[in-house]
Amino acid sequence: MAGMPFPAATSTNDEGHLVVDGCDLVEIAAEFGTPAYLFSVSEMRSRARAYLEAFSARSDRFEVLFASKALPVTAAYRLFAEQGLSVDVASGGELTMALAAGYDPQRIYMHGNNKTDKELELADRSGVGTLIVDSFDEIERCERILDRKVDAMVRVTPGIEPSTHDYIQTGQIDSKFGFGLEDGSAEAAIDRVLGSDRLELVGLHCHIGSQIFAIEPFRLAVEALATIAGDWCQMVNLGGGLGISYLSEDDPPEIEEYVELKVEAVKRCFGDGVRIQVEPGRSLVGTAGLTVYTIGTVKRIPGVRTYVAVDGGMSDNLRPMLYDARYEAVLADRPEREGDTEVTVAGSHCESGDILIRDVSLPDPAVGDILVIPATGAYGYAMANNYNGMPRPPVVFLDDGSASAVVRRETWQDLMARDR
Ligand SMILES: Cc1ncc(COP(=O)(O)O)c(C=O)c1O
Repeated sequence: MAGMPFPAATSTNDEGHLVVDGCDLVEIAAEFGTPAYLFSVSEMRSRARAYLEAFSARSDRFEVLFASKALPVTAAYRLFAEQGLSVDVASGGELTMALAAGYDPQRIYMHGNNKTDKELELADRSGVGTLIVDSFDEIERCERILDRKVDAMVRVTPGIEPSTHDYIQTGQIDSKFGFGLEDGSAEAAIDRVLGSDRLELVGLHCHIGSQIFAIEPFRLAVEALATIAGDWCQMVNLGGGLGISYLSEDDPPEIEEYVELKVEAVKRCFGDGVRIQVEPGRSLVGTAGLTVYTIGTVKRIPGVRTYVAVDGGMSDNLRPMLYDARYEAVLADRPEREGDTEVTVAGSHCESGDILIRDVSLPDPAVGDILVIPATGAYGYAMANNYNGMPRPPVVFLDDGSASAVVRRETWQDLMARDR
């Protein structure tokens, strides 16, 4: 277990069971059932604090936004609002959740490469503070729909390609997001918004990708944005993107390094008067989350491999199928025991590709064991689905020895709730 990406408040108790935020995961699995998404509240709080402290040591003009796509759960919006974070929403649904959680609309930043009339109407009505404008069509739509003048930032694709998976790169020229720098679209969008009677241009935005370990491209992105900034530029939002550990061998940069680089680049390129914003998602919630499953079958194919099948899979964690994402695992009642059996952890879905972990060594895994996969906190619940009629797992917050389901488990009946 040493080195695996568990929350900081992880230990074992006298029985040798895995304990997170004071909760014995064998007991938690029995109480809430499996599969279940568990979150260390102390980890989420301390990651938020790490961002705020890193900024406040370097700047008095900054804002940290919770990129809520990573964990769109009302309780998470509430938690990060309490920590003093603003919020990034990318749809009417996320906006509805942020408002329901009590977010001050002025602290809500709304994204989306194809915001609909209905979404813009909701943003207008509910007093959303800032729109991140993504296309010329959207600018026209805003002018038709908005009843008030709303602050706007222009989303720029600066042509920077960080080293990450193709599907989670967003800052390159060939992208569905934002306005390109090289082809002059970004400058044209700036002129267009400056001339708008419904949008008030206040800044620039870019998000170059996600799960980034080599942070130098962020500096290049700031330098690129600075080439088109004018007097109107009061704030620069540099997106999220900081990578996290999924495996023991991963070594992502610290939050402080990432903040240091961004603050230095913005001060150098834009001066002290511009507010710097970041909107982390994965690095706030990723390592705070873990998923517990029950092993239901162990299939040994002599000379080939051993499949351990759990009661979830691609419906609760799409990342292995989507990005070839890799994970590690332990057994909740003996996390410290050395692995002695090489297995492949498979899900329960009707797809051969429904594999959560291709190779992992576990200590004599057996039917009934509780398998725990760490670092599933970001984009797992967010991308959960009902493939094969699988009800979505609950979200359980673990906090100083107490556990509460902040999202209940879906039922088989829920699967038909919208059927006519
Ligand atoms: C515009 C924008 N901001 C922030 C984020 C959050 O990124 P991350 O989870 O890598 O911090 C994303 C995610 O892709 C995004 O698209």
